[in-house]
Amino acid sequence: MSNKIILSIETSCDDTAISILSCKESKLNILTSKVSSQIKLHAKWGGVVPNLAAREHLKNFPKLIKLALDEAKVSIDQIDFIAVTSGPGLIPALLVGVNYAKTLSYLWEKPLIGIHHIEGHIYANFVDENSKFKIQNSTQIQRKKCKIMFPILALVVSGGHTQLVLMKNHLQYEIVGQTLDDAVGEAFDKVARILGIGYPGGPAVALRASQVKSQKSKAIQDTKYNIKFPRPMLHKKNFNFSFSGLKTAVLYETKKHPELLKNKEYIAEICHEFQQACVEVLIAKTLKAAEQFNPKTILLAGGVSANTELRKQLGEAIQKSIPNTSYKIPDTSLTGDNATMIGAAAAFRWEKMTAKQKKEALLGWKMLQANANLKMN
Ligand code: KG4
Ligand code: ZN
Repeated sequence: MSNKIILSIETSCDDTAISILSCKESKLNILTSKVSSQIKLHAKWGGVVPNLAAREHLKNFPKLIKLALDEAKVSIDQIDFIAVTSGPGLIPALLVGVNYAKTLSYLWEKPLIGIHHIEGHIYANFVDENSKFKIQNSTQIQRKKCKIMFPILALVVSGGHTQLVLMKNHLQYEIVGQTLDDAVGEAFDKVARILGIGYPGGPAVALRASQVKSQKSKAIQDTKYNIKFPRPMLHKKNFNFSFSGLKTAVLYETKKHPELLKNKEYIAEICHEFQQACVEVLIAKTLKAAEQFNPKTILLAGGVSANTELRKQLGEAIQKSIPNTSYKIPDTSLTGDNATMIGAAAAFRWEKMTAKQKKEALLGWKMLQANANLKMN
């Protein structure tokens, strides 16, 4: 890849994110990565309120852009192009980021390219792990340095998506399996809401689930409440998922025992069994798809890829059944929404663009549109 500096923006949901990446000798290094989280603002509503998110993005931008340029020690002249998430996502939120990027592109006379949010999550895996910027946030699970080789099978798990994506080469995506209803992150969020344990649900459920594990390892043979949830779609031949029934099973369980909802042990056991059901289904479908498509690399992407049990158990399953397949997980600092992943995907897109397309990107400020239902192609 040619050397370049990319400024990227992501506002598809409730995080305002700006990043500046340098691509030097084919390595992507983070010069700065700013994420302004709105969790506190939306927590009281139990989920993201699109118009509130948009208003916050607008408030955050001037400060964040200045901070990012200062921290990266990059002048506007040095930036080669701008990249922004153009979809999918919440339209009020997307519009703010896209219009901000268009304004910068016009004022600074820089090319502008739109990036698909999920493409970004996948390309978070291509950011150089030795990048100085993220050392303080290193991953919890030690792993061998992994070379990413095609074909890739990407398990994308986020709040809006659950997909198995086959990539025969860079920027080529074939969705071979996906959820028929709720995304897995959405199911975590809804279960957390049913249990009244906070927002966002993923980390809240994972934390309680880990409490059961530590009790179990203290030689208790079985869990006290012996809760069992289904493993949806496990025996279906296709690679699709379904998580809404699992969420409903949690709801029914709590309706059976409303008196236990204040009992921490009971809540922890529900979280543990729910998380384990999700992890087992995700692993089984990924291995089944790997059997058919023979990928050289399996990679994990999206907000739920922060889940320690999923990271660990998927790695162990690959090691056991297909040890010649590489396994790549994103740095934990890049699992949730961030702009670095958008810049990373943009670096590869830029490389594939013709001189004419690069010139046309100078008119990105006029042409680019936010699209809440953008398809990946
Ligand atoms: O990718 P992301 O930040 O936003 C979307 O593109 O949707 O994913 C957010 C989702 C939320 O549903 C959140 O609860 C979930 O990722 N999540 C987790 C964990 N951390 C975040 N789910 C399970 N375990 C986690 N540790
Ligand atoms: Zn995301």
